[in-house]
Amino acid sequence: MSSQFILVNLKAYKEGMGPRAHMIARAAEEVSEESGIQIGVAPSFFDLHPLSKHFEIPVFAQHLDGVVPGAFTGHVTAAAVRQTGAVGTLINHSERRLTLAEIEASVRAATEAGLVTVICSNNDMTSAAAAALSPTYVAIEPPELIGSGVSVAKADPGIIQRSVAAVHAVNPKVKVLTGAGIQSGECVKIARDLGTDGVLLASSVVKVEDPAIVLRDLVSLL
Ligand code: G3P
Repeated sequence: MSSQFILVNLKAYKEGMGPRAHMIARAAEEVSEESGIQIGVAPSFFDLHPLSKHFEIPVFAQHLDGVVPGAFTGHVTAAAVRQTGAVGTLINHSERRLTLAEIEASVRAATEAGLVTVICSNNDMTSAAAAALSPTYVAIEPPELIGSGVSVAKADPGIIQRSVAAVHAVNPKVKVLTGAGIQSGECVKIARDLGTDGVLLASSVVKVEDPAIVLRDLVSLL
């Protein structure tokens, strides 16, 4: 069985909320069972508990704050994410940037709560800095390609290669995902051949009528 991981970020897309979040999670579970490839989803906070309850696939938060439970308002604690049944979290997504100190606090809080951590980075230098915080994964996503329909695997394979090298030079135990414009089995295969452990993607799955078709294509060459 391949150890590649495909993580679908539902973002705040209207096509990724409520019933559509369930439909995408169901498709991810089916394709994961058929293929043996692990496929997870990162829905809105409101869908963390229902999806964790109804599906066996890994469910991730899109963000969490590095604060302990207590007198904080409007914060998302690692303990609260864990209690939904979610198993991991994105940290520092390009659309939810944090300071370095906040990233460190979020990784620490998530790790203490037993969550898998995915720090997103925008280039190979920040990938190296992220690796120094010992997350489970660093996810390299060039911001200019996010949501563009142009795949990082084809448009900028060099950034993937340099990020894998930079991460592993700092901490060989940290795994690497890549994302931005990922849309096909060919993209996933190129990323895998460049040394990554999987992909982080959104629009090509979330915004289509039948996400299962795209998910089947994504795993087809692994
Ligand atoms: O978190 C995944 C994301 O930022 C990439 O988005 O739409 O280019 O797959 P997309």
